[in-house]
Amino acid sequence: MFSKISSLGLFGLNAFSVEVEVAVARGMPRFDIVGLPDASVRESRERIRLALNAININLPSGRIVVNLAPADVKKSGTMHDLAILVAMLAALGGINSSLDGKCFIGEVSLSGEVRSVNGVLPMTILARNLGVEELYVPAENAAEAAAIDGVTVYGVPNVTALIEHLEGQKRLPRAIFKENIPKEDTSAVDFADVRGQRSVKRALEIVAAGGHNVLMVGPPGSGKSMLAKRLPTILPEMTMEEALETTNVYSISGMLSPNSPIVRKRPFRSPHHTISGVGLVGGGSTPQPGEISLAHNGLLFLDELAEFDRRTLDIMRQPLEDHIVTITRASGTVTYPCRFMLVGAMNPCPCGYYGHPKRKCTCSQMQVQRYLSRISGPLMERFDIHLEVEPVLFEELSDTKAPESSEEIRKRVHAAREIQKKRFKGTNITCNAQIPAGHLQKYCPVSDGAKQVIQSAFDRLGLSARSYDRILKVARTVADMSSSDIIERNHAAAAIQYGSMSFKAAPHNSR
Ligand SMILES: Nc1ncnc2c1ncn2[C@@H]1O[C@H](COP(=O)(O)OP(=O)(O)O)[C@@H](O)[C@H]1O
Ligand SMILES: [Mg+2]
Repeated sequence: MFSKISSLGLFGLNAFSVEVEVAVARGMPRFDIVGLPDASVRESRERIRLALNAININLPSGRIVVNLAPADVKKSGTMHDLAILVAMLAALGGINSSLDGKCFIGEVSLSGEVRSVNGVLPMTILARNLGVEELYVPAENAAEAAAIDGVTVYGVPNVTALIEHLEGQKRLPRAIFKENIPKEDTSAVDFADVRGQRSVKRALEIVAAGGHNVLMVGPPGSGKSMLAKRLPTILPEMTMEEALETTNVYSISGMLSPNSPIVRKRPFRSPHHTISGVGLVGGGSTPQPGEISLAHNGLLFLDELAEFDRRTLDIMRQPLEDHIVTITRASGTVTYPCRFMLVGAMNPCPCGYYGHPKRKCTCSQMQVQRYLSRISGPLMERFDIHLEVEPVLFEELSDTKAPESSEEIRKRVHAAREIQKKRFKGTNITCNAQIPAGHLQKYCPVSDGAKQVIQSAFDRLGLSARSYDRILKVARTVADMSSSDIIERNHAAAAIQYGSMSFKAAPHNSR
């Protein structure tokens, strides 16, 4: 007795095709799974044995061998349970309909329920590309799978329902894609909540327009966290392609809910400063995406940046540059995307009041320096824009005139992004912050006046080549915001002012 069923496996973000073969032969009672299964797959034996018992089917007392082909690729996870169970039933003659063109994924519980698994979205895309006609997934994952056109999806609640469906006694309904897009979110935050802070808001507008990384430094209570949380409200919406990329990451992390099977809003991740390196960049024995990948196409907000472990932050440097993170394991190499805007916030010193207009800082110069050096120079340089946030003034707080709303700011951001879209058409660059060093000359033509301003800043502040690149990128965005093809003097001057050196060069408590 022999049967063969299609299933799918997952390694990192990559789905692959798996054939489940079951052979039942005479011999000593044994039940083996072969084909490089890991512990989670081997345990499948017990789940299947008991799930079959639950529907009154006992395994025959012979030798049962389950082979997961290709036999040289490691299999991990519980998603093969359902296919193994169906193959077993077929081999025992328990299913009489054709199983051609059908593919099964899902975990089976001891009582025969079918439980959700991670990574259904990338597996469904592969199934569609392989020409699978009917894909059977756990009922809880059905909404996610149904988002992909070109393959019929059935959500399976339990083994009995699946058998009845396959035997034609009681058909399961076809899963259809539906999203509960929430109507206006009344709890939503808005830039209109932030009083005063005109220049900081203007800078954050530039940040959003060019997709730049930003570091906010200021005393406690000056509104850094408040401002960062409002940044997503002025970013453009994700394109469908971006949404699917981000959803893939959430799918393999098992973070999608049946109500919102597609991630539509740009992610806003704000991990606590006690996070581990693995939590931040990803890893583990079966490598999972970290916060930087969960922030893909969105924002990673590191509040109280100086409290993070310096080594943890430094692991993030390479992925920040490459927009991908590569995790190597004995079983192979996994690559996850991580193109995100980095937003940092920190106090300027241990007591928090260094440079405060009214309150006195109690830290020594030494303490201030040591505090700042908790963030390595190279990481500091990854922030295109450094902002000093000063506490809001009483007159501004009590002003009755409502500040500009996120909606209005977003219109200007959108206009600047449209210019960038045209500029980068046919490339994989999506915004000015991503211009590779080799392309800066091409994309950032500067006027003679701008050249002069940059030259003199170079001489005065002793800038590095990287700061030069950063100035050009930020100046490009400032120019885009006034629809100027050429970077003019004032655009360059603004960009220089946002550079890190203005912060470092600030004399002690002199403001
Ligand atoms: N410009 C502002 N307009 C309105 N409220 C503000 C402003 N700045 C600060 N606040 C208030 O102060 C609180 C503390 O701000 P927060 O963002 O937590 O500061 P920080 O992160 O810099 O320590 C905010 O929740 C808000 O109520
Ligand atoms: Mg804060």
